[in-house]
Amino acid sequence: MSRIVYVNGEYLPEADAKISIFDRGFLFADGVYEVTSVLDGKLIDFDGHAVRLERSLNELDMPNPISKDDLLEVHRKLVADNGIVEGLVYLQITRGAPADRDFVFPNPDETRPTVVLFTQNKPGLAETVNPVKVISVEDIRWGRRDIKTVQLLYPSMGKMMAKAAGADDAWLVEDGYVTEGTSNNAYIVKDGKIITRALSTDILHGITRAAVLRFAREAQMEVVERSFTIAEAQAADEAFFTSASAFVMPVVEVDGAQLGDGNPGPVMTRLREIYLEESLKKAV
Ligand code: PDD
Repeated sequence: MSRIVYVNGEYLPEADAKISIFDRGFLFADGVYEVTSVLDGKLIDFDGHAVRLERSLNELDMPNPISKDDLLEVHRKLVADNGIVEGLVYLQITRGAPADRDFVFPNPDETRPTVVLFTQNKPGLAETVNPVKVISVEDIRWGRRDIKTVQLLYPSMGKMMAKAAGADDAWLVEDGYVTEGTSNNAYIVKDGKIITRALSTDILHGITRAAVLRFAREAQMEVVERSFTIAEAQAADEAFFTSASAFVMPVVEVDGAQLGDGNPGPVMTRLREIYLEESLKKAV
């Protein structure tokens, strides 16, 4: 079934949606994005994603072409028109398509940003728990990982390196410490403590991370925001990652070392339950 997608104010069948070859997202990866999950036909953490989008745009001096209310309306219409009960909404805003290729940013009064949204249908998303094996790879991404840009080539290569090594995903390591996963935030659990890297420009400030840590603290679990090594992860009681597309997902092997008995641990399992339950209550 062909999807209805959104491009610059229009709702179109996906085959009719067109972007200029001069679009700076295409030529320079000059764009930002958000992925919002849908459960029970409702948007999870929409506010958090809208706030982070605004911040990403500000950091790149890109004008925000769409208000939060309009953005919510577009998300909701796409979810309804495409009959999404469980799935994702992908949103991308680029600096638009000037008349020619030029490293200099176009004048924002002359070149409007490009806004694209589409849905991804993922039936069973809430029930899907796939224990994940990770390998470590060097983090050679740029230094502003807190901005959610569409420069995803290296994360994509990291995933391919993981597949080639018989694993599922890669944890990125810089100066001996894990930064994050290719498309998620990374955690270990040791002696009941949930350990995850503190926020900085080194990692994306995950919307799921913020919610999960808040729920963990509310449930009297101990959270320690500090960096950890791969050796620590291998010796941990549990490990997991969070993202809008996977929620809370167990990591059961790190660079070939099995964690615990190789099954999802109790802390991660509890956090996933709380996250799904609480987020659904506030879904819009
Ligand atoms: N990825 N770190 C990175 C590098 C990410 O790309 C993501 C999200 C996260 C988790 O952020 P959040 O909880 O807000 O989804 C952390 C999305 C899902 C993606 O690229 O598909």
